[in-house]
Amino acid sequence: MTTRRRFTLTQYLIEQRRRFPSASGDFNALVLDVALACKAIARSVAFGELTGVLGNPVMDVATSLNVQGEEQKRLDVISNEYFTQMTEWGGHLAGMASEEMEKPYQIPETLQRGKYLLVFDPLDGSSNIDVNVTVGSIFSILRAPQEAIDSGRDVVEADFLQPGTEQLAAGYALYGPTTMLVLTVGNGAAGFTLDPNLGQFMLTHPNLRVPEDTQEFAINASNSRFWEAPIKRYVDECLAGKTGPRGKDFNMRWIASMVAEAHRILMRGGVFMYPRDTKDTSKPGRLRLLYEANPVGMIIEQAGGRASTGREPMLAVAPASLHQRIGLVFGSKNEVERIERYHAEPQAYKDERNPLFAERSLFRD
Ligand code: AHG
Ligand code: MN
Ligand code: MN
Repeated sequence: MTTRRRFTLTQYLIEQRRRFPSASGDFNALVLDVALACKAIARSVAFGELTGVLGNPVMDVATSLNVQGEEQKRLDVISNEYFTQMTEWGGHLAGMASEEMEKPYQIPETLQRGKYLLVFDPLDGSSNIDVNVTVGSIFSILRAPQEAIDSGRDVVEADFLQPGTEQLAAGYALYGPTTMLVLTVGNGAAGFTLDPNLGQFMLTHPNLRVPEDTQEFAINASNSRFWEAPIKRYVDECLAGKTGPRGKDFNMRWIASMVAEAHRILMRGGVFMYPRDTKDTSKPGRLRLLYEANPVGMIIEQAGGRASTGREPMLAVAPASLHQRIGLVFGSKNEVERIERYHAEPQAYKDERNPLFAERSLFRD
């Protein structure tokens, strides 16, 4: 094994800060606190059943549902606590919001409050914990409204309802064969690998780029009967392969950890879809805008990919509520743009009685 001189996450952040000579360093300190929380979660994940943190609803079934009405795992709760405990004391945050907390989290009055908002999904893909498949944490950093910073008041839901374009930074940690942190501070996307000996995230992927074209897609096909026509069309055309309109074969993947799919796509291209569908019309999509779609969207776009609802750029969406769900399509630019085109021109394909569509639709009801 050759030893190479590598940058640590801290050094990377210092280097990035040089672009903003007046920056105080608060932001960097906050990112390092988040990275510390991720390292703690990585340890819990690594010890797994040995320390009894896996699976199992937290309490009895009736009380173990989170704000989304989904089963909360022990590790969901532990991860949420690592995030709050390791970031609240630094004095950099005005408040936080998490998938696992219905209301915004207030920085205790005994601690100093700062100018940033932290929004996170402490454990993404948590249905995979029990089966030892990759999970991760996703986070986004926003600026608090100036008046909230000045007054030090409690944060409210409205403070967090900022479009993805307002994100100052976004990242995720991946607890896989190796632990990684992928980060954007608005100047490209970089990947860091946790060196278990040093306990440091080392810069291993300095300039991540998503290939513009791909022959790989990810979607939960068990929902196909609920898909809207543009998605059916897109997937049908992929499945038709070489002999279909695309003239090439496609491969398919589904991990059920969006963060792991995002990472695969960052590494080698692909397109991910969890689109709006008709399965449950009270839920316009499966994934959450503020702490899943927006951070992953920012990272992917900083790496030259694209993130969309299918109808509009994800990062342009004005959020309506903290836990809002949304249809999400992201990945290789040319594929996402194609899917957007299919949404923009649904006429020719909307009507499944259209003989052309019916003939092609392998997922026809
Ligand atoms: P979470 O564990 O934070 O609730 O998120 C799980 C999400 C996402 O990671 C994944 O893509 C999706 O749920 C999987 O959904 P299906 O079970 O429908 O495949
Ligand atoms: Mn999630
Ligand atoms: Mn989660």
